[in-house]
Amino acid sequence: MVCRICNSEAREILDLGFSPPANSLLKSRADPQESYPLVVETCDACGNMQLRDCLSAHDLYKNYLYATPDSKLLSQHYERLLEYLSSNGYLHTDSVVVEVGSNVGLFLKYLKPHVGRVLGVDPAANICEIARASGVDTICDFFDPNSAKAIRKQVGATDVIVARHCFAHNCDPHVMVQAAVSLLGESGFFVIENAYALNTIANNEFDQIYHEHMFYFSIRSMEALLRLHGMRLVDLFLSSIHGGSIVFVAQRAGSGKLPKATVDHYRAIEEKELTTDAYQRFASNAFAIREQLRRLIDLLRSDGKTVYTYGATAKGNTLLNFLGLTSQDIPLCVDNTPTKQGRFLPRSLIEVISEEQAATDPPDYYLLTAWNYKDEIIEKVRQRGNQHSEFIIPIPFPHIVEARH
Ligand code: TYD
Repeated sequence: MVCRICNSEAREILDLGFSPPANSLLKSRADPQESYPLVVETCDACGNMQLRDCLSAHDLYKNYLYATPDSKLLSQHYERLLEYLSSNGYLHTDSVVVEVGSNVGLFLKYLKPHVGRVLGVDPAANICEIARASGVDTICDFFDPNSAKAIRKQVGATDVIVARHCFAHNCDPHVMVQAAVSLLGESGFFVIENAYALNTIANNEFDQIYHEHMFYFSIRSMEALLRLHGMRLVDLFLSSIHGGSIVFVAQRAGSGKLPKATVDHYRAIEEKELTTDAYQRFASNAFAIREQLRRLIDLLRSDGKTVYTYGATAKGNTLLNFLGLTSQDIPLCVDNTPTKQGRFLPRSLIEVISEEQAATDPPDYYLLTAWNYKDEIIEKVRQRGNQHSEFIIPIPFPHIVEARH
């Protein structure tokens, strides 16, 4: 297919088969559901890595249940991000900040006391209501040149636009950059945080592939995209959050700021490591992990052991569906998000229960589908008195974290 950044030919690197939208949890096992292909391709011309088939925004967001989890790790990340943006002069106490894909408003709520004004923009109505109820002013809309115009009328030229883990959720990446360009003040900053393609590839995170993730950005592909809109990458920041993320800081190319040496440094590392061989290894490792994990779970079950999943995550749904695991193999999934509890994971039809419910009769093993919160979750489970359940960590290769008896 065609690269949606630069229009060159893109080539397939991995086909994970068909999967339902990963955040569309079902109210009942009988609810109708559709599956769509999950195929990833890359573009040699600009380094873009993209999902071949995009779902319409309507299909993705009509039943959207993703709510930013309440997590210690995330709070620490917000703190680090605020420190980084402030100490580098990207954010000031009087800055007007617009967050795109602001979800339930956790980051803006954190930012609010440190800046002049915050405004969230999010397309999921149910999620916007939660944000507003918590005191975060939120516009319920997609971020595009039209809504950007309306936002500009409301708050004026913006100093900082933040897009955290939502920038890849749009089939046409040009729309969001165009919107940002029209809303930003002359020397404003566009801060984009996303899973970093180099980490996704190097850590075998094939489960990060689902329909919301229509792009897997690298420094190279982000620079190619920004260039097409008169923008320039001026700085970046790497974080271990969500299995390895990158925070891009972009500004208008004409605003005079030169890219920091950090950008050159990490671009050179990326050039060496994000190779055709690396993509091939990533694809074959995905199939190897499927084999190993499936064998392990079958073995445990034939031994009479119970296995639940921990984390009703989007990536967990990719993993379960790629492995062909269902409620026949894994009866329950544990998650602390109230909107997910009592629902069923798409296609695998595994019921989601609360952490408190799980604690009353814990399984022998948890398949940790929220592996990005590994330390936090294992510590919490142990502190609450469960020394019995062992944890199966799927990525980068399946391994077990045993219980301390
Ligand atoms: P997330 O990391 O956002 O994954 P994805 O982007 O793949 O959907 O989701 C983490 C999930 O894990 C979320 O649904 C909440 C859940 N969770 C718990 O159940 N307990 C916890 O202690 C933490 C930190 C998360």
